[in-house]
Amino acid sequence: MTTDLVGMSGLKEEANKEKEMYGMQSLNSQGRLDSNREDDRATLILTLTLYNVRKIELSKAAAVFETFETHICHFETRRAKKPKNSVDDLDIFVECEVHSADVGILITSLKRVAKDVKTSREDKVPWFPRKIQDLDKCHHLITKYDPNLDHSHPGYSDLEYNKRRAFFADLALNYRAGDPLPHIEYTAQETATWREVYRKLRSLYPTHACAQYLDAFQQLEKHCGYQEDNIPQLQDVSRFLKERTGFQLRPAAGQLSARDFLASLAFRVFQCTQYTRHFSSPMHSPEPDCCHELLGHVPMLADRDFAQFSQDIGLASLGSSEEEIEKLATLYWFTVEFGLCKQNGLIKAYGAGLLSSYGELMYALSNKPEYKPFDPEVTAVHPYQDQAFQPVYFIAENLEDAKVKLQNYAMKIKKPFALHYDPFTSSIEVLNTPQKVKRALHQIKEELGNFCLALENLS
Ligand SMILES: [Fe+2]
Repeated sequence: MTTDLVGMSGLKEEANKEKEMYGMQSLNSQGRLDSNREDDRATLILTLTLYNVRKIELSKAAAVFETFETHICHFETRRAKKPKNSVDDLDIFVECEVHSADVGILITSLKRVAKDVKTSREDKVPWFPRKIQDLDKCHHLITKYDPNLDHSHPGYSDLEYNKRRAFFADLALNYRAGDPLPHIEYTAQETATWREVYRKLRSLYPTHACAQYLDAFQQLEKHCGYQEDNIPQLQDVSRFLKERTGFQLRPAAGQLSARDFLASLAFRVFQCTQYTRHFSSPMHSPEPDCCHELLGHVPMLADRDFAQFSQDIGLASLGSSEEEIEKLATLYWFTVEFGLCKQNGLIKAYGAGLLSSYGELMYALSNKPEYKPFDPEVTAVHPYQDQAFQPVYFIAENLEDAKVKLQNYAMKIKKPFALHYDPFTSSIEVLNTPQKVKRALHQIKEELGNFCLALENLS
C-alpha cells in the first residue's frame, strides 16, 4: 500500500513537472484552441488500454487526470480487445474536458501509464461555445473599419466620437450573459442621425421590404419605441424578440469575427452594436451600428422561419473549419445581409444590409443588378463586395425554402460529431455517444406523441 502511494505521488510529481514545462506552450487553433484564451477548455475523446488493472494501473491513470484538473464527462471500461497479460486488461473510453494548454502534456503523461493512447478527431476541432455563458468569450473584433484605425472612416479624426465609441466598447466588453442590457441615454446628435436614417428608410419599406419585415416593424413601432425621435433600447427590443422567436440581444463592441458572431446565432443570441454611425454620414456606415441592427436585423429576427434560418447557420458554424466558416459567412452575407425573396410575383428585400441602406435598397430592386436563384452551394463560394453595392443578389423562393436549402447544405459539412441544441438549458450537446442520441430521440418521440394527441383531439 505504501509503495503504491509513493508510486502515485511520484507520478503526480512527474506530471506536475511536465505540466510546468509545457504550461506555456502555445497550441495552434487548428489543433486545439487559441492559447490566449486562458479560460478555454478542450474536449477530448480518449481511448487507452490498461494492463492488469487489479494492481495500481487505474489509480495511476486517475492521478494523471487529477493532476491536469480534468473534468471527466464520460468514463467507460471494457475487457481489452487484445489482452496481453490477464483477464484484467481493460480498454478505456474517456470523454473529458481539460484546459486547452494541457492537452499535449495530458496525452504524454497518459502514455507513460497506459498503452495504445489515442485521441479522436474531436481535439482537432476549433473551440466553440457549449453554453450561453460561453458567449462572453465570443467578442473578437474585426478592426478593419474601426474609427480609430481606418483613415476612411467618417469619424476617424473626431476625438469626441472616438471617446463615445470607447464608452460603448467598454459596456459591451464588460457585459456578461444574464446581465441586464445597458440602457443608453442617447445624445441629441445621435438621435438626429437616427431620425434622418429612420425617416428616409421608412418611406421605402412599404414597397421594398418583405411582408414579414413589415409586420414586425409595425409591432416594433407599437411596442418597442420605434419612432423618429427615439432610438429604441436593446432591453425592450430583446424582450420583444424573446417572446416571438426566442432570440435575444447582447451588446457587441463592433464588427465581430465571423466565427464568434455566427456561434452566438446557434444560441438564438444576436450580438448587437449600440453606438450610432458618425453624424456626418447618416446614409452610410462602413461598420454595423444601431441603425443597421435595429432597422435591418431586428424586424426579421421576429419571424419564425428567419429565426430558424439564422440559428441553423450558427449551429453549422460550431466547430467548423476556417474554410467552412468562410463559406457560411458568405452565405450569411448574401442572405441575412443582402437577401431578396419572391413575394406575390414581386421581389422584396429581407436582408439587413439592404433594409438599413436607402441607396442600396433602391438599387437592389431597380433591375440594374444581376439576380441569381439562391442555391447554398453556389452562394457560399460567390465573391462578395463590402466596399460598394453588390453586383449580384441571390433570390430565395421564400424564407421557408431558403431555410430548408440551408439545412440540407449544413448537413453536408463534415464534422466528427453531430450537435443538438437544448432550448431548456440554452446549451449545445455533442451527440457523440449512442446514449446521447437515444436521449435526444426519446425527447422528440415524446413531443411527437403530444402533437399526435393534439391532432386527434382536433379531429
Ligand atoms: Fe449586419
